[in-house]
Amino acid sequence: MNTLEKQGLTATYPVAQSSLSYPKSLSDKEKIRLKEDKVLVSPFKQNKLELEAQKNWDLFYKRNSTKFFKDRHWTHREFPELTSENLSTQGYKILEVGCGCGNTIFPVIEENKHVFVYACDFSPRAVNFVKENPLFDEDRCSVFQCDLTKDDLRENIAEDSIDLVTVIFVLSAILPSNMQQVVQNIARIVKPGGVILFRDYGLYDHAMLRFKPGHKLDENLYVRQDGTRAYYFSLEYAEDLFSSVGFKVIENTYIHKRTVNKKEEVDVPRIFIQGKYKKADLTE
Ligand SMILES: C[S@@+](CC[C@H](N)C(=O)[O-])C[C@H]1O[C@@H](n2cnc3c(N)ncnc32)[C@H](O)[C@@H]1O
Repeated sequence: MNTLEKQGLTATYPVAQSSLSYPKSLSDKEKIRLKEDKVLVSPFKQNKLELEAQKNWDLFYKRNSTKFFKDRHWTHREFPELTSENLSTQGYKILEVGCGCGNTIFPVIEENKHVFVYACDFSPRAVNFVKENPLFDEDRCSVFQCDLTKDDLRENIAEDSIDLVTVIFVLSAILPSNMQQVVQNIARIVKPGGVILFRDYGLYDHAMLRFKPGHKLDENLYVRQDGTRAYYFSLEYAEDLFSSVGFKVIENTYIHKRTVNKKEEVDVPRIFIQGKYKKADLTE
């Protein structure tokens, strides 16, 4: 992870939305940089990264403990589905996949007394951090270790039972060749009519354009210094991915922000992708 992604130190501010379906036009320098960065990391190293993905994320939490990401209070602003008004129904169930230390779930738990929150991550340290949080309450949440690429979520959650799934900056860490299987895994536990809320890195994000040669794994896929991976999503890619498992696109858009850190003299444009996808309900 780099300074830009160290959101504990930075603030993001909304800027005007681009009306283009392409996230931004590249400068000549950026075009050349992307074009010339064509040597991919060797298949041997790529295989090692996949085998060690869980270990690399667990070491990330060993180094940073709970201090890297800030609580994601913005999710309420960006996703009205997560506000108290919408979550006032008794028995409402939410799942956060790739929950890390719980920066997305704890603001939800704190503000909504009626929801039950499931959370999972493949890093044992992350799962423990969630359990150690003072807001963790077994009557209101359940957290478990799970590799979304290998473990069936139905081992911990009943099929067709979840109202809302949050997928926040986790799919970008998963190999594109495994993404459909992961989304299918999630799809099985979502209720008919239930919704997936998705937020992740968007194509041509500043962090993508900053990778130096030697970090490219594939088209729009890079490896950071610490061995964790980052995929940068286009709208088309996200739409195809969620549609392929029978979800209808409600929203699918690029979000333009600025990351500002006055102390470190950082002020850069960021591009994220945000989507809402609904599982078909044959009774509707
Ligand atoms: C950038 S963090 C995001 C954490 C959290 N969603 C949040 O909003 O703060 C990505 C998380 O995805 C988890 N992750 C990556 N690949 C995974 C996989 N195959 N199965 C389960 N969790 C995974 C990592 O351990 C890490 O905690």
